[in-house]
Amino acid sequence: MLNVRDLALAVTDPVTGDETAILHGNSFELAQGEALGLVGESGSGKSMTLRCILGIEPEGARVSGDIALDGVDLRGISGERLRRLRADDLALIAQNPHGALNPVLPVGRFLIEGMSDARSLGREAAATRAAELLSDVGIADTERVLRSYPHQLSGGMLQRVIIAGAISGQPKLLLADEPTTALDVTTQAEVVAILDEKRREFGLSMLFVTHDLDLAAAVCDRLAVMKDGRIVEIGTPEHLRDHPESDYTRSLMDARPQLYPAGHHAPDPGPPHIADAEGTGS
Ligand SMILES: Nc1ncnc2c1ncn2[C@@H]1O[C@H](COP(=O)(O)OP(=O)(O)OP(=O)(O)O)[C@@H](O)[C@H]1O
Ligand SMILES: [Mg+2]
Repeated sequence: MLNVRDLALAVTDPVTGDETAILHGNSFELAQGEALGLVGESGSGKSMTLRCILGIEPEGARVSGDIALDGVDLRGISGERLRRLRADDLALIAQNPHGALNPVLPVGRFLIEGMSDARSLGREAAATRAAELLSDVGIADTERVLRSYPHQLSGGMLQRVIIAGAISGQPKLLLADEPTTALDVTTQAEVVAILDEKRREFGLSMLFVTHDLDLAAAVCDRLAVMKDGRIVEIGTPEHLRDHPESDYTRSLMDARPQLYPAGHHAPDPGPPHIADAEGTGS
């Protein structure tokens, strides 16, 4: 469904005029319903890869290569067509949920505005639908949350709201960029479990960016290991653990020997535990 060929990106320093290569011609594919993890150290180009797919690369960037979503060349379309495709087919779940939410609007408005059929639904039906979306991602007191402004909710709660909104549009592709790094560890596990569960329920494809190999192995079918703007290797977590091709992958894997004893699968993130801890929080 997603096909990336020879994706390269270079940025020019506005002051010196020097051009720096950031991505060096990467190729990968994502099948319908598949989750692919992009893993690698800070600065390896994970976020830039997502930005290229979304068409939001930095000012002055030069991009080459092909990015196709279900056969549509994302780099070949523009204007209204691109805007529509982004709104309908792609959903970004970023590290900081605050950035995705308008601080002066209650989160209910965010969810309702994201519904493509909000107008035809009418006010009441849209509000009911928004409440359903929230309870779907494990939020119990939906009425309070719908009325709340982003600053009144915890990061974990907000990230659930973002996931609810992302799923509701039934996008073709979820792009998740370190979606839980800003959260505390318990909340991280809950939010990842919800994302994983919903993604599977709706059969959505996902590109999951993280530098947490364990997390990536737990939620992704395959991992693409990135280093210095290059994808050095792609494979299932088990394959990369047992038969790493590159020294870099081996060193990543060796750094966490106890996590996947040979012959064992990645840990199941388990069912979401919502009602406790943060669900009733302020
Ligand atoms: N706006 C920008 N303009 C120019 N170069 C940038 C810009 N943003 C990032 N870079 C550079 O692009 C490279 C890749 O950055 P990217 O943000 O994709 O890394 P990353 O793998 O997502 O790292 P992290 O794990 O820290 O988020 C880095 O060398 C970074 O310095
Ligand atoms: Mg990043």
